[in-house]
Amino acid sequence: MVPSADAPPVNPPTRRSYGEVTVGDPRLSGDAQHDTGGESVDAGVGEPGPTGRPLPSFPVPAPLTSHGPAWIVAMCNQKGGVGKTTSTINLGAALAEYGRRVLLVDFDPQGALSVGLGINPMQFELTVHDLLLGGTNDVREVIVETQVDRLDLLPSNIDLSAAEVLLVTEVGREHSLARALAPILDEYDIILVDCQPSLGLLTVNALTAADAVIVPLECEYFALRGVALLLQTIDKVRERLNSRLELAGILATMYDARTLHAREVLARVVERFPDEVFHTVINRTVRFPETTVAGEPITTYAPTSVGAAGYRRLAREVMVRHHTQPAVG
Ligand SMILES: Nc1ncnc2c1ncn2[C@@H]1O[C@H](COP(=O)(O)OP(=O)(O)OP(=O)(O)O)[C@@H](O)[C@H]1O
Ligand SMILES: [Mg+2]
Repeated sequence: MVPSADAPPVNPPTRRSYGEVTVGDPRLSGDAQHDTGGESVDAGVGEPGPTGRPLPSFPVPAPLTSHGPAWIVAMCNQKGGVGKTTSTINLGAALAEYGRRVLLVDFDPQGALSVGLGINPMQFELTVHDLLLGGTNDVREVIVETQVDRLDLLPSNIDLSAAEVLLVTEVGREHSLARALAPILDEYDIILVDCQPSLGLLTVNALTAADAVIVPLECEYFALRGVALLLQTIDKVRERLNSRLELAGILATMYDARTLHAREVLARVVERFPDEVFHTVINRTVRFPETTVAGEPITTYAPTSVGAAGYRRLAREVMVRHHTQPAVG
């Protein structure tokens, strides 16, 4: 059988155990890959993908010999429950599987990102809140390791809800996150910032720190509602605060190809944003809510599942876009 690009990397540089399965476990090669659809590296290339456009090839990225400087991506949509946190965790974990050093920033006072990684954010004395408001200047004091190799976390908890108000009086308030991250840019390849569902000062901070934005969109009615406002906000931040900022892409999530409704919504999104929508579409599956309960990414919880394959493919597509495409925003 041809090895699937969507299957877990078989021989990652290091191993870490996740309960029953270990990344790099020989059981994950060969027949265990059949859940990914047995898709070969180039399967489907040139044929219409879920977005209706011909699928390009998204090769497995070459191993890195050194790390940094980090590419900072804000995962942003002011609409709630569209898959921002799920995508941050699983895209991050997939990039880490491909050998990238990844930092996830929990930028939502609800702390869902931390919880989704099995980490109780209330246990920490120092969180992102302290970095923004001068409780500490040392970002390394705040970073914690996750169970996943090469995947670190900057945790947040409910304290962050006060930051939005307290930051208003700070000098250079929009640049607080960028300042906090500056000392560690050479230590990571990618930093993903999980934004809260609002376009307030915290989200503006994320956009000011970021090189790019990924906009997750749920394939449901009103998916596009509010996207124009989000794109205007991105434009304003680019003009006034951060000229580097680009739109890395729009990610269709919770897609159920069996329903006409989801297919129609996806077709409308592609019609509206033909170049921006990622070829990779994330399917709706109960495995994702299960991973939140389990407190780990789908790439380790169900390494051979369709959901894990989806985020691995997204990771490869994101890297291809990052390295080959000019800004589309
Ligand atoms: N592909 C998917 N299939 C099924 N359920 C999903 C999928 N992606 C996310 N979910 C579930 O949908 C819910 C919302 O997802 P998530 O928390 O990632 O959204 P969010 O945009 O971060 O929400 P918020 O705006 O509240 O921060 C969660 O219960 C999550 O488990
Ligand atoms: Mg969230």
